[in-house]
Amino acid sequence: MEICFRRTPLANGYLFMNKWSFPLVLLVAPALVVAGGAPPNSDSGPTEVAEGRQIYEQYCAACHGWQGEGAADWTKPDEKGEMPPPPHDETGHTWRHSDAMLFRMIAEGWRHPFNKTDRLTMPAFKDILTDQEIQLVIEYLKTLWTEDQRRYQRSESQDVN
Ligand code: HEC
Repeated sequence: MEICFRRTPLANGYLFMNKWSFPLVLLVAPALVVAGGAPPNSDSGPTEVAEGRQIYEQYCAACHGWQGEGAADWTKPDEKGEMPPPPHDETGHTWRHSDAMLFRMIAEGWRHPFNKTDRLTMPAFKDILTDQEIQLVIEYLKTLWTEDQRRYQRSESQDVN
């Protein structure tokens, strides 16, 4: 169910799946706590994460850093009045966005509304990556966050409506 939910590429898909997956999460979550296992680094399998990392290194690392550390001085606009690439690790704010929002930013591109220029500083990847590749790279980004950030992002992803 979880995997099915995450693989659903369209925002509508998320809405549809949420109705069904939310009660399921409520049932499953306490069971996991009782089981008491150490939380996995990511909910995805190692193969998915490795594929996501490969895509990240090929398409994203040049701007966002090899370890997702972002550009130096990423919190301030550069000399063109554009916001530099932010980190994706726990020092950034990528983890604050729901799966659907992250998907949209990567597929359609993004610019900070206050940038002095009009161009999409974050390029659109929908003609370069498949929907599934975008999902995989998002799964990889999740491995750069703390457990609390992952928990927050998971609940954000379920609240999309
Ligand atoms: C040419 C440089 C460049 C490349 C390549 C690039 N990005 Fe970005 N990205 C940016 C910039 C610049 C921003 C900040 C846009 C803004 O807020 O003004 C950004 C923002 C983002 C955000 C929003 C982060 C947040 O906290 O709001 C996400 C998510 C993201 N990028 C993911 C990716 C992924 C995944 C890839 C690879 C598939 C990628 N980016 C490739 C430049 C790039």
